[in-house]
Amino acid sequence: MNQPDHFDPEDHPELEQTDFDRLTAKGINRRNFLRGGASVMGLFLAATPLAQAVAAATQPTPSKLIGFKAVAASTADTFVVPEGYVAQPLISWGDPILKGAPAFDESGTQNAAAQAGQFGDNTDGMSLFPLDQDRALLAVNNEYTNQEYLFAHQGKQALTADEVKKSQAAHGVSIFEIRRNAKGEWQLDSNSTYNRRITAYTPMDLTGPAAGHALMQTAADPKGTRALGTFNNCANGQTPWGTYLTCEENFHKYFASPEDEFDVELPARETRYGLKSGNRDYQWYRHDERFDLSKHPNEPHRFGWVVEIDPMDPTATPKKRTALGRFKHENAALTIDPSGHVVVYLGDDERGEHLYKFVSKDTYNPNDQAANRDLLEDGTLYVARFSANDGEIKGQGEWIELSHGTNGLTAANGFADQAEVLIFAREAATQVGATTMDRPEWVAVHPDNKAVFCTLTNNKNRGKDGQPVGGPNPRAKNNYGQIVRWWPHKASHVDNRFDWDLFAIAGNPTVQDGLYAGSANINADNMFNSPDGIGFDDAGRLWIQTDGKYSNSGEFAGMGNNQMLCADPATGEIRRFATGPIACEITGLTFSPDQRTVFIGVQHPGEKGTPSHFPAGGNSKPRSTIMMVQRTDGGVIGS
Ligand code: FEO
Ligand code: CA
Ligand code: CA
Ligand code: CA
Repeated sequence: MNQPDHFDPEDHPELEQTDFDRLTAKGINRRNFLRGGASVMGLFLAATPLAQAVAAATQPTPSKLIGFKAVAASTADTFVVPEGYVAQPLISWGDPILKGAPAFDESGTQNAAAQAGQFGDNTDGMSLFPLDQDRALLAVNNEYTNQEYLFAHQGKQALTADEVKKSQAAHGVSIFEIRRNAKGEWQLDSNSTYNRRITAYTPMDLTGPAAGHALMQTAADPKGTRALGTFNNCANGQTPWGTYLTCEENFHKYFASPEDEFDVELPARETRYGLKSGNRDYQWYRHDERFDLSKHPNEPHRFGWVVEIDPMDPTATPKKRTALGRFKHENAALTIDPSGHVVVYLGDDERGEHLYKFVSKDTYNPNDQAANRDLLEDGTLYVARFSANDGEIKGQGEWIELSHGTNGLTAANGFADQAEVLIFAREAATQVGATTMDRPEWVAVHPDNKAVFCTLTNNKNRGKDGQPVGGPNPRAKNNYGQIVRWWPHKASHVDNRFDWDLFAIAGNPTVQDGLYAGSANINADNMFNSPDGIGFDDAGRLWIQTDGKYSNSGEFAGMGNNQMLCADPATGEIRRFATGPIACEITGLTFSPDQRTVFIGVQHPGEKGTPSHFPAGGNSKPRSTIMMVQRTDGGVIGS
């Protein structure tokens, strides 16, 4: 990569690191400039291109798109929305969605059968599918569980067989109908025949180039075409042909070997995905042999995929789409290119991993949705390589094809066929020289279909371990994160060239100088860390959710709890829209078709026993909850 070459501290031993940070600031503000003295002045001129590059891209001017009054940072155990807005819980972990399922009981003693009929834990990505004016389906990911709340023993004991099953039933996807009442509020319809739970043991088809491959075959499925379940479903996607995409992220945490195999080393291909024999996170291996690595080394190859689900047919078998590659998927941002090809942008959320693009082989037919059903079955996967203009935090990039036989993806380099390229997509990305990124989380395509945004949430390892500082990852030990934006050449998502900049560099201007203070559109009133969930509404407002540090002290002073913000892509302005309760992450968003309701996920309030009683208050157990947010005047959200 072509690194910005100004102000390498090694070239300027006379300067302290803090001077370096100041000089590469968006700010190079007057205060620092005056304080810096003569030697700094000499370097000021050289610093200018980099400083301008960031400032020019993000200098905010007042937005006409955003109409609400910003909310302040908060450390309260509540969900705060702007004046003129109301927020109320729609559904919480454990609420019954299938007929006959019991009401939530916070003792932690409810069994697997009860959980299998209830809303799963840790709400995450979600999509809304309209049925008619006042009815819709919500498809929602249930990413993981908080053992400290799931079980009466708080996960401190070896799990029983029923407890493993309960844990598996709390994962996956929940699909349920919502109806709008006379007051215009949406409510769960727990009697709807559409309602469905998909869990870590629901049968699903493996499809695409890796299906049936020897590396996908197991004792229970010698053909390698039928997996059981999906779990650690992080974020999501939605297709114009009416299906839901759920993305498998940290699947490695569910596999382990028994105690006598605890120290067995796994091949590098497996450890690249975080798999390890001595993992004790979820204990599923104790009662579900599939998760015992010593017995079933191929089982993990059947996870880490994007899964396509038809929410309109509760009997439909979900399909794992192996053409989209295997990694720790965040979301699947799908767009229809002007050429008709389906393009899906995909982040791999791990420090130093990569950003991907899938292009379908066939084209979308808006007049025949049935014909579009298998467009994700076959296509080409690409990975991003960024380069930077000298002295600027912007530049160009290219998508490099991950097809067997091209770009060194050959048997000689360890890839026997296309299935191996896809199953070990991370290795393939390294082979072709992809850029290591600061944890790519969600991708969102602007409604004008010309610009694409991706959150790079943070990366404490930037600057070490083959992860050079530069390009879209401009800070060592990046604790705040940034949002990269790119424009495909000629507004064509199938073109393999793009231009990029950073839409926002999160930081803390009240305690930091330099790049760590953030870009010009970050200030004391809107600062945040670790951008994660993002999405556009129909009008083109960019909504940003955070999964960051909520200590509200030190380098995170003044940021408060995790939050949701609204940005105007044209002006760069960012305004805080909502703040979450204690120790939660805000993740998952979807709008009603009229844009007058937004559903927002509050994930794991009170995680790891941090005191929270959200949403019920009093002495209640905290529960992941989807909030329904509306305006008291019935207006469009955000306007
Ligand atoms: Fe499940 Fe990368 O967040
Ligand atoms: Ca996330
Ligand atoms: Ca995150
Ligand atoms: Ca999370």
